[in-house]
Amino acid sequence: MIKSRILHFLILTLPAVMRFNVTIQEFLEKTIQIEASTQKEAVVATQQLYSSNSIVLSADDYVKTKILIDTPLPYYKSSNNDFTLIEGDCVDSLSRFNFDFDMVFADPPYFLSSGGISCQNGKVVCVDKGDWDKPTSTEDMDKFNYQWLESVREHMKEDATIWISGTHHNIFSVQQQLIKLGFKILNVITWAKTNPPPNISCRFFTHSTEYIIWARKSEKVPHYFNYDLMKEINGNKQMKDVWELPAIAKWEKSCGKHPTQKPLALLVRIILASTEKNAWILDPFSGSSTTGIAANLLGRNFLGIEQEQNFAELSKQRRIELDANREIIKNKINDLSNLKLDLPKDERLNTSQELPF
Ligand SMILES: C[S@@+](CC[C@H](N)C(=O)[O-])C[C@H]1O[C@@H](n2cnc3c(N)ncnc32)[C@H](O)[C@@H]1O
Repeated sequence: MIKSRILHFLILTLPAVMRFNVTIQEFLEKTIQIEASTQKEAVVATQQLYSSNSIVLSADDYVKTKILIDTPLPYYKSSNNDFTLIEGDCVDSLSRFNFDFDMVFADPPYFLSSGGISCQNGKVVCVDKGDWDKPTSTEDMDKFNYQWLESVREHMKEDATIWISGTHHNIFSVQQQLIKLGFKILNVITWAKTNPPPNISCRFFTHSTEYIIWARKSEKVPHYFNYDLMKEINGNKQMKDVWELPAIAKWEKSCGKHPTQKPLALLVRIILASTEKNAWILDPFSGSSTTGIAANLLGRNFLGIEQEQNFAELSKQRRIELDANREIIKNKINDLSNLKLDLPKDERLNTSQELPF
């Protein structure tokens, strides 16, 4: 006879480390003899003796302990479950659960923070973004890009697409790893910033563009493209692969600053182009979760992964702000204010899939 005692513990850890539900089971075992005419009668008789405390197991009967570690607990989940955020490293976090997404947007480290300077609001500022963005060797960059792309690919539906942003510092490495992993590149969007900061050295052209590679998981399986909507946004002409959109605006930083926050207008365009309502979108380098805010604004579900706790907290505050200011935010995005789209208010999204946490 085996008696199992199940104890549930919530292990609370320090910031920048993930939290897990851990179940500890202790097994006690005792063998007794019982008189009965059939096996079934023996079972019933034993159950009666056990529930009447005629058979008691003690610490002397201990045989083993089993520890079961569950999927990571999210840092934050919105009340209608359309926004989930994990605090942790993306490759490690993705290895801990199974779930397939319709679309991925990734704004990975560009590895460009080498002490350069720029001009912001008339002041000379250092453009370093953080330790996660320090330059590295070509080999290490390729390895990093291969690893996270491989992990993400395992969580993409067969017809899913991925968008990855970058500059010349990282984008060629990303392109090579995409090819190695079997992705098919669909477009390379040039985001032409209408209001770039000036180049203060006066030795180069002003940097005013970023690239966004759009690729699908599979060479053969067709992807979703909202062609008609893109054409409508572009005044009924085919949308080109050069998008003129402004850099991040001040109103987008009302909950705090992230050094490389993307403008909502850019993510709105990407999500409208490549997903349908209720789709599931993953961002493995979530930062301040611009992808999640755009996704929820448009009635899509979001999972973000961010390794720094202060950025995870900023993301949470932005998601709370969205509930309070949905209409105001929507009206600040040209692609949305010009269209008559049926956008969600705050209701639970209609999805057949649920995250395992
Ligand atoms: C370029 S930023 C993303 C900014 C984001 N698109 C936004 O709009 O706020 C990259 C983010 O990835 C995070 N990061 C870097 N390496 C990571 C990793 N291995 N796993 C998870 N997050 C990571 C950084 O902390 C940073 O916040």
